Amino acid sequence: MKLILFGPPGAGKGTQAKMMIEAFRLPHISTGDILRSEVKNNTELGREAKTYMEAGKLVPDSLVTEMVKKRLSAPDIAKGFILDGFPRTEAQAKSLDKILPGGVDKAIYLKTSEDIVVQRLTGRRVCPKCGTNYHLRNMPPKKDMLCDQCLVELYQRPDDNEATVKNRLHVYLQESEGVLSYYRKQGKLENISGDLDSKDVFSDIKKIISSLK
Ligand code: AP5
Ligand code: ZN
Repeated sequence: MKLILFGPPGAGKGTQAKMMIEAFRLPHISTGDILRSEVKNNTELGREAKTYMEAGKLVPDSLVTEMVKKRLSAPDIAKGFILDGFPRTEAQAKSLDKILPGGVDKAIYLKTSEDIVVQRLTGRRVCPKCGTNYHLRNMPPKKDMLCDQCLVELYQRPDDNEATVKNRLHVYLQESEGVLSYYRKQGKLENISGDLDSKDVFSDIKKIISSLK
């Protein structure tokens, strides 16, 4: 199964991907996670990407596409994968079809309202060790501000402040229609509501996946 999770920042792509990995044992490829790890390790790519990410802008297509191409050449993707955060522009979608002859099976679009994504992003807290997402109100950790599994302190992503969130949404609105119509034309687009509770979103995703089997 070759799947794309698409949607605005804060739609719940990372949260759903985590649930899908556990249920379907597919590798999760998040361009945001790969880029954040490059920034943390202060690599050349990380240094280049950092300024764009902190401003809520997209990292140039060429850099991200090269990074995805490399990741998709690894042996673990033979069974399939979940792509989260890529493609984000029509140019990236076209490049993906060149990298993967036949393309993906489905692009799952988590359509989510703007007020909901702002509330989700500003309240998000992340475990630095295992990457689990929490939310101050919607999915609070069991104990203080510690990850339930790792018991380390959660942090707020530097791009989750209100000003950067606004820029990320602006960029999303500019680029999303190109990606959506690209997959709509291919008959691969599946719309579901990202506004629902995460369990209900997951149950809609499972229905799409079972239609593929
Ligand atoms: P990236 O990391 O991909 O960020 P994003 O797309 O903005 O998405 P998020 O990770 O913020 O949100 P999400 O949809 O995963 O939501 P989550 O599950 O965490 O990219 C970051 C940056 O990297 C970009 O700005 C760009 O600079 C660069 N980049 C990455 N890919 C790129 C590309 N392809 N091209 C160019 N540049 C690229 O959920 C959010 C919160 O809500 C959490 O707190 C969660 O607990 C809560 N929540 C989730 N689901 C629900 C629910 N159903 N109900 C209630 N609460 C929920
Ligand atoms: Zn953790």
